[in-house]
Amino acid sequence: MQDIYKTSLLPLIFKRLGADPETVQGQALKTLAWLATQPEAAPYWAQPTRRFAQAWFAQACCLSSPRLAQTIGGLTFSNPVGLAAGFDKDGVAVQAWPALGFGFAELGTVTCHAQSGNPQPRLFRLPDDQAALNRMGFNNRGATRLAGWLQSHLQAQGYPIPLGVNLGKSKVTPLTQAAADYRQSFDLLKDWGSYFVVNVSSPNTPGLRSLQSKTQLAPILDTLQSANQGQKPLLVKIAPDLAWEDIDDILDLIEQYQLAGVIATNTTIARTGLKTCMILKTGNPITQEPGGISGAPVRQRSTEVIRHIYQHTQGKLPIIGVGGIFTADDAWEKITAGASLVQVYTGWIYEGPWMVKKILQGLLEKLDTFGLETIGEAVGLGEGGR
Ligand code: FNR
Repeated sequence: MQDIYKTSLLPLIFKRLGADPETVQGQALKTLAWLATQPEAAPYWAQPTRRFAQAWFAQACCLSSPRLAQTIGGLTFSNPVGLAAGFDKDGVAVQAWPALGFGFAELGTVTCHAQSGNPQPRLFRLPDDQAALNRMGFNNRGATRLAGWLQSHLQAQGYPIPLGVNLGKSKVTPLTQAAADYRQSFDLLKDWGSYFVVNVSSPNTPGLRSLQSKTQLAPILDTLQSANQGQKPLLVKIAPDLAWEDIDDILDLIEQYQLAGVIATNTTIARTGLKTCMILKTGNPITQEPGGISGAPVRQRSTEVIRHIYQHTQGKLPIIGVGGIFTADDAWEKITAGASLVQVYTGWIYEGPWMVKKILQGLLEKLDTFGLETIGEAVGLGEGGR
């Protein structure tokens, strides 16, 4: 099935159908949402399709083992592979993520004010680089709608895996008022997220990444932790393009404000080593377009950032590693560099929905190979663990 996806379906979607990647992704989200909803909630004629889809998801995408479970920041993760922010900004397919095998899912980035994002096209595939380039610009329905949506979808049954909510600054809000903007979103959503992420690392909102500087980040963390009162784990998501000193400054703040962890990393603005030479209708080579690169080109740098953070904090700060994970080897590399949990986005598109199960199977094999009982023992194992 996976071979059919990679050799036939993916090229068909990418080349023949020629559909805009954002449109394809939007359709996929809607389909997943529809399939994952309770069969009883569907008209009678659609119930068998949903039952079949859900049985198929469970068999093809899910793997459960106590050896993969961890408790971090008071939350229990049944496995270490999560969905990265950006894929389901508005929680449209929130019910699908546990059914697709993820150990946790992160919604958002959501902003206090609804916003349409940057003009289209704003998402490009770079298949020769196993990568994507995006400049979405935090298109989302806003924190109020997300809170209402989660209330109507989760209140009755709860949610079987930890649910992260990734917060960003609204484009209309000046940088000087960023703290209040983040706080408003947090106040609206605090009952619905298991953990919250301060996203100051997207390259697609003007000035956002300057909020990673010590002087600008401190008031945001101060404001959010005052509102939070220690109730929910709060993390910061950082860019791969920061210098080591800037990362160390952020780690100081994380300690000062007692954050629960760090997510490393967002997309990169670097363009080194890209092979894709597609020319757009604008006449520009795609690689010179503004935006952030995800997928394989960010893999190595994000692992280096994880390793640096793990060493700098002597392994005391939980790290969620993200960037270029396609295989169990990639996930293992991030875990042994110091990530307790990992997230995937671009790899999941290229590899297909069974990717999570394949990674989990591969991680169990790695544990056997290295004589480890649980995945927690592999965190930060270092070069010897590869
Ligand atoms: C992203 N990413 C992202 N991150 C974030 O914190 N908020 C967001 O809204 C988005 N949006 C977004 C859109 C698109 C189209 C992509 C490809 C990525 C970044 C994502 O969460 C992740 O950090 C990077 O993509 C690196 O991981 P992968 O894609 O290499 O697995």
